[in-house]
Amino acid sequence: MTFKVKDHYFHKAKKDNFLARSVYKLEEIDERFKILKKNDQVIDFGYHPGSWVQYTSEKVGVNGLVIGADVRDINKKLLGVPNVRLFQRDILTIETMQELGVSDQFDVVLSDMAPNTTGIMSVDQARSLNLVEMVFFLMPKFLKPGGNTVIKVFESNDAQVFLKEQKKLFSEFHYLRPKSTRSVSKEYFVIGKDFRP
Ligand SMILES: C[S@@+](CC[C@H](N)C(=O)[O-])C[C@H]1O[C@@H](n2cnc3c(N)ncnc32)[C@H](O)[C@@H]1O
Repeated sequence: MTFKVKDHYFHKAKKDNFLARSVYKLEEIDERFKILKKNDQVIDFGYHPGSWVQYTSEKVGVNGLVIGADVRDINKKLLGVPNVRLFQRDILTIETMQELGVSDQFDVVLSDMAPNTTGIMSVDQARSLNLVEMVFFLMPKFLKPGGNTVIKVFESNDAQVFLKEQKKLFSEFHYLRPKSTRSVSKEYFVIGKDFRP
């Protein structure tokens, strides 16, 4: 079950014209770990409604590119943004970069994907890990050597074991629970810098 908490970050996002409060998680991660830079080409898996797309599109500038993919209908509010392209796709069905209209590998892979939750912890953890595994599966095709990644993870032992294995793929590997994360949430983010496939 998902619900909207109208807390400080919800109101701040409204005031700052962001489409979701999750933008402050990416902002904190980016300020701390310097993930995004001008002219970057970025893929955002599970972009909807699109606050990460808004933030990233500003950061990469007019010569950069942000591609968003999500199972949900395209968010029309983002259609006028010149350096943004959106796709209605389930990440579990994506095999090649060409399906997203690009041939060059990305500088940054973002994923804030969250599964439909059931309230049954083991099921929700497994579904979330499935999405995380898929992002890592696509990584060698999608992320440039030297590139960065930010991926949302739901806490579980299996996730921990899986991520430990992936650590060697990056020069730097960090875990962070941003300040704006709701206290009841089981999510955190894994941040990989300098991909070494
Ligand atoms: C928390 S929201 C993302 C919020 C977004 N980062 C923002 O700032 O507006 C998670 C998104 O993941 C998407 N998602 C979940 N499973 C997916 C899948 N298999 N493929 C693509 N998108 C998926 C959901 O549809 C949902 O829109």
